[in-house]
Amino acid sequence: MLPIANGGHEMNAAIYYFTGTGNSLAVARGIAERLHGDLIPIASVVDRETIESDADVIGITFPVYYADAPNIVRRLAEKLGDTKGKYIFAVCTYGGAAGASLKTLAHILEARGSKLSAGFGVHMPQNAFRKPWEVKPLAYRQAPKRTDFIVRSVEAGRTGLFYSNVVIQAIMAPFQGWIRRMTSLALEKASSTPAPSGLTVEQLIPLAGKSFSADAKCTGCGTCARVCPVANIKIVDKKPVWQNRCENCLACYDWCPTNAIHGPLASSNYRYRHPDVTAHDIAAR
Ligand SMILES: Cc1cc2nc3c(=O)[nH]c(=O)nc-3n(C[C@H](O)[C@H](O)[C@H](O)COP(=O)(O)O)c2cc1C
Ligand code: SF4
Ligand code: SF4
Repeated sequence: MLPIANGGHEMNAAIYYFTGTGNSLAVARGIAERLHGDLIPIASVVDRETIESDADVIGITFPVYYADAPNIVRRLAEKLGDTKGKYIFAVCTYGGAAGASLKTLAHILEARGSKLSAGFGVHMPQNAFRKPWEVKPLAYRQAPKRTDFIVRSVEAGRTGLFYSNVVIQAIMAPFQGWIRRMTSLALEKASSTPAPSGLTVEQLIPLAGKSFSADAKCTGCGTCARVCPVANIKIVDKKPVWQNRCENCLACYDWCPTNAIHGPLASSNYRYRHPDVTAHDIAAR
């Protein structure tokens, strides 16, 4: 139970999370522990027609993809049931900046007559490519302080958007449209879709997932299929076959024990996993 003062009534929390390489899970865990809330993988509920929760406080934790919110997180927000009187907050983790992710969630909820009460950014290591100047231990050390700020803000019922790096957020904001156009081009290329396709980034994301392949190092162990949050990989004749529901989360690529997976979505020879998260944690949904 969460000791938020609301007419003396104790409130309970549900923390939904999506993760590919563990950053968002590590942050979501920290928040759920502090709020004594339930930790719920978004993948375990997102295929329901409506997602209902008894919780008074709903948290949504996820990574930023292509300067915006992942498809699966948008689907969750579109399906949340009765949210009247609930405090809804979102936490995005990113390697650089939150982009439009929190605002996108706010718009989706608003269009459904609901409201994003607060949004928070947490700077974590970049999982999509190597940043030579990045000091990962520093990011891990800062995360608990940020979690503390988020928890105290939620308990106080604070409202607004709170980025961890306001300056970078402000510098990047004018480039949002350009970033999305460049992303479309890159995803068209990755998915071998003739350009200009007229497809949105969100439509191109599942198509681009088809570009993964496994080389001769593949042992057929099935880890990639188990960690995939959306069951997008079938093991056929001891080899992974990618389907058409990809979220581009890179879980298959990063958790493969033999580094057998390749594709234009991933930066070759760079693999990332949060040190406190295991493949078993990722697969639990
Ligand atoms: C497909 C993809 C796109 C990404 N796009 C961005 C981005 O636009 N901005 C950013 O700061 N980080 C971006 N990242 C980095 C992740 O948001 C960041 O490392 C996040 O903490 C990973 O969370 P996870 O470990 O829970 O999957 C991207 C990662 C992936 C896989
Ligand atoms: S995780 Fe790697 S080794 Fe295991 S089946 Fe998938 S590609 Fe092959
Ligand atoms: S196929 Fe790989 S990148 Fe796509 S959603 Fe599944 S684990 Fe993530």
